Formats: sequence, C-alpha cells, structure tokens
Amino acid sequence: MLIPLFLYILCFLLFPQSLQSQANAFSRQPSGKFIFTHHERSDSDPQQVHISLVGKDHMRVSWITEEKDSESLVEYGIKGGEYSKKAIGENTSYRYFLYKSGKIHHVVIGPLNPSTTYFYRCGGSGPEFSFKTPPLKLPIEFVIVGDLGQTEWTKSTLKHIDSKDYDVFLLPGDLSYADTHQPLWDSFGRLVEPYASQRPWMVTEGNHEIESIPIIQPHAFRSYNARWLMPYNESGSTSNLYYSFEVASTHIIMLGSYTDFDAQSEQYKWLQSDLAKIDRKRTPWVIALVHAPWYNTNEAHEGEGEEMRQAMEELLYEARVDLVFSGHVHAYERFTRIYDNKADPCGPLYVTIGDGGNREGLALKFKKPPSPLSLYREASFGHGRLRIVNETHANWSWHRNNDSEAFVAEDIWIKSLSNTKECWESIGQQISHEEL
Ligand SMILES: [Fe+2]
Repeated sequence: MLIPLFLYILCFLLFPQSLQSQANAFSRQPSGKFIFTHHERSDSDPQQVHISLVGKDHMRVSWITEEKDSESLVEYGIKGGEYSKKAIGENTSYRYFLYKSGKIHHVVIGPLNPSTTYFYRCGGSGPEFSFKTPPLKLPIEFVIVGDLGQTEWTKSTLKHIDSKDYDVFLLPGDLSYADTHQPLWDSFGRLVEPYASQRPWMVTEGNHEIESIPIIQPHAFRSYNARWLMPYNESGSTSNLYYSFEVASTHIIMLGSYTDFDAQSEQYKWLQSDLAKIDRKRTPWVIALVHAPWYNTNEAHEGEGEEMRQAMEELLYEARVDLVFSGHVHAYERFTRIYDNKADPCGPLYVTIGDGGNREGLALKFKKPPSPLSLYREASFGHGRLRIVNETHANWSWHRNNDSEAFVAEDIWIKSLSNTKECWESIGQQISHEEL
C-alpha cells in the first residue's frame, strides 16, 4: 500500500499534469508559446488585481500580497490620487501540496455610480488602478471568451479586446491552465491584471479549474474558489461554482459544468428559483454561460455536455433564455436557436467561444456533413462581443485573431425573445410586446 502511494506522490511531483491530462485524440493547430508573467513588485504591493460585480452597484476588488501583514483595505475615489472613501474586506490563503498561496484579499466597495471611472489603491500602498463601472441602462457591451490560458495567443486576444472599449468581461471557464502547478495561477493573475483591474471579469469554472488529485488533494476548485470569488451569495446560490447577476437590463446566469446538475441537485433547484425570479420587464435579455457546450459539432469533446443538456435544457427553454455561451472546445461555432436538437424560434441561440488562446491549441476537426443547426464554424483564436443595443436588439460579432490584427469574421443581429409574443403564448404566459 505504501509503495504505490509513494510512487504516486513521486509521479505527482515530477509530472503533475500527467495525472490530470485528458484524452487528446483530436489534432490541433500548434499553440502559441507559453508566457510566464513574473512578480516584479515588492512583497507588500498588491499583485494580480482583478474586479468583479457585486449586486447592482458594488464591486469586489481582489488581489494577492506575498506580505502576510498587508491589510485588506481599498481606498477609492473619482479623482486620481484622492481617495475619499475606503472599505475593509476579508482575506484567505490556501495550501496545495507543497505550495502555499500569498494572502488573497477580497474587498467589496460601493455604492458606486454607473458609467463612472474610479481610481483605487489596494492595501494602503503600491500602484494606483482605475476601473469604469458599467452603465445603468442599455446599451451595454460584453466581451465573451473562454479557455484563455497564458500564451502568445492569449496575449494577442487580450490586446485585441483592449483595443476597443467594453463594459464587462464574461469568461465561460478554463482560466489559467495551471493544471495543479499553482505558481501558474499567480502568473495568470499577473498577465490579466492590466485588463481585469479595469473592467469587471465575471467567470465560471471549467475542467482546468478542478485540480483535485485522489488522496493527495481531494478538494476540487481550491485555487479557483480562493482566487476568483464571484457574487454567488447575492444570487441565493450556496456555491461559487454557479450564480447569477444583473447588469443594465441583462440577467446573466453562470452555470457549473463540473458540479452536480441533476434534478435533485442544489444547482438545479437554485436554477429553477433563479429563473422564476427573472422579470423580463426589468431584464428583457437573459444569457447563460456554461463551460462544456450542450451543442457542438466539433470532434473535440463530443457529447461531454450532453448529460447536463438533458438535465437542464428544458428549464432554460421554458424561461425563454436568449443566448447560451460555452467554452471547452477550442474553436468558434455559432448555432441557430435550438431546443432538443431541433431548430426552434423560441429556444436559445448557442455559441461556442473557447478560442481564447490556451497552450493546447485549436480543435480543428468539425464533423461532416455539417449539421443544419450549426451556422458558422471555424477553428481560429479570437473573442466575441455582445453589444445589447436596446430591449429588443443586440449585435453579436466574432473577432478572429489575424496575426496582430483582430478581424470581424462574423457579425449578426439578434432579437430578444422577451417580446416575441408567440414564444410566451405557446407556454401559456401573457407577456406581450405591448407590456414591455
Ligand atoms: Fe475545458
């Protein structure tokens, strides 16, 4: 018993990824060079600063210090260098085998005004950061991209995202690709800080966040939950792995592919109650994000989201969810509106956007002949933008990474289901265009 355990631990120390690696039977375009982002500030200075929305007018500021005595304090104001307000928050840390994290700080600040630039400082010293709050009303622009990683492609995707303004970043899972190498979580935090400290990053988990190892590290999502704390409490969820939030007339549901989702599960019950609370007059747009796609015609990860689709698709359909975004498959694919494997004008429009730029490369093979439900497929790195213009119309565009330039490869208009009378009459609800 002891010898196999010793060999297992030795194997983990030498090749930790091998214990987590997944079947990689599909071929991919060569990935970009890995980038490690070093710690270049003092140990008491904040690093890996990122922000996330909390409630209707608060923001959570998260960061890490090597220095254990550093205070969980954020000072902020609307003028650079002048901090009229301050807030104290909480902190945590975790151990992962031989690794011990820095002090992870989470401080909620607010109430904040919409569409306003705030300047802030973390822990009472170090560099000044700034962010812009999202608008109170439409229009609003979301950037959406999953499976980000930390390679040259990631860098190019982030540069393209930064070249055009947006309000909120939505990430449907697979962030750092640390895959048990905990210093890579720190490197990822430093890589994304210039972007994630300026705009709220709202994330849900992917398979690369799990990081559980039998016997040695049985608790899943240890690093992810400690570092990327999302506003789950505020939406009645009991888990950081699924939650919802509302911003500028949009209700956004972040689902968890890697926690229970069957009809008896906490997640299922929470989703039912969350959907029941949606008021389409207040939030005419409803969007869901989930890591493993429910519809996918790529040979990569074929059928991996199927069990969850069978469990939860009806809930989203009956609630007339407008759009479902996924990651996991490293390519771009856009479907029509679907319910139960058939085109349905009252079902969500499905998009796979797992093309952020991670080290694993692209999923090149789409099944042939193409499914009539799949309207655009391409294995390239890039990102998506959802600009919700008003209560009825939104623009979705996919921006392919063409070397140093971003190229708009697809651009479509989408109509919200909230005012599609036929879709509500068919389930016996009386929400009509006139009422909205
Ligand atoms: Fe994944």
